[in-house]
Amino acid sequence: MKKLICLVLVMLLTFSLVACTTEDPAATTTKAAATTAKAEDTTAAPTEPGNELITVGFAQCKADESDWRKANTASMQDAFSEANGFSFTMADSNNDAAKQVADVQGFIDQEVDYIIIAAVNMDGWDTVLGNAKDAGIPVILMDRTINASPDLYVCWVGGGFYNEGVKATDWISTRFTADEEVGIVNLQGQLGASAQVGRSGALDDALAANSNWSLVARQTGEWSTDTAKEIMTSWIQQYGDDIDVVYAENDNMADGAIQALEEAGMKVGGDDGVAIISFDANRAYLQMTLEGKINCNVECNPQLGPKAAEIVMLLEEGGTPAKEESIDETAFYYDTITQEIIDARLY
Ligand code: AHR
Repeated sequence: MKKLICLVLVMLLTFSLVACTTEDPAATTTKAAATTAKAEDTTAAPTEPGNELITVGFAQCKADESDWRKANTASMQDAFSEANGFSFTMADSNNDAAKQVADVQGFIDQEVDYIIIAAVNMDGWDTVLGNAKDAGIPVILMDRTINASPDLYVCWVGGGFYNEGVKATDWISTRFTADEEVGIVNLQGQLGASAQVGRSGALDDALAANSNWSLVARQTGEWSTDTAKEIMTSWIQQYGDDIDVVYAENDNMADGAIQALEEAGMKVGGDDGVAIISFDANRAYLQMTLEGKINCNVECNPQLGPKAAEIVMLLEEGGTPAKEESIDETAFYYDTITQEIIDARLY
């Protein structure tokens, strides 16, 4: 509830700021102005004529693929609520890239005002985004990037996945000296997702730059705790003590790996256990970082709803958003994190 109030305040604030910068008062009588009036006037019936909602189609990759994705889905649903002046439809592709493209075509056929996409895969977007462009429907990329001509979408907002990976590999460099052999196993995200491509890419570059590092094994854990646990259990049987680092591309997979290591009686985390790298930094996993089970947890912020809504409002006002907007992200370490830091987190 508190988050929602903040959000409405941010949106109203953003809105009033934009409204007062527009020269031509007539320009403000768009849906956005109606939305502001609606948000301020709580007595107004939801969809009175002249108060029509802004229709938004959201193509989510898999709404419950991870704790991060659940927080992201909630952030979008909160920001694009009817109370905020939106008619919001989410299509869940269940991580099926072909279905997601069909979902987006469906939104085009429904003639929504805006389309927002969290892409399952970086490829395969040119045709359908061309259709959206022909239909005059602005497309916003949220969280995940794609391999398509930039003129086919308005902008992207999200985390810097490659830079997140660099934060993680920098930590490995601080943990091991240059003359120590370092065996790394990599639990990858869904293959082809820009989050996976960026984080795996950073690891590949660091492996190339550090001759004492070796990639013992690598496989996609589909962002899932259970899948990661299964894979880690078989890696422990195959490689045992050759494993010095687990590079898990999200919190859920890190958790799965930790469960497998503990069940095998192997020391996890801390100063001298198998080092655990994770990404997302959801609260529950920051708790595991404080406990020393996760050594380095790189933040990826799921709360992209308010930013995406702000961009829609700016477009409604005839404004131009930045083509790329990277959300600030940090990293947390088992030997410096505190309970106060965790308690201050929003997710
Ligand atoms: O795109 C961000 C990634 O998607 C998160 O790191 C992962 O947890 C999510 O499912």
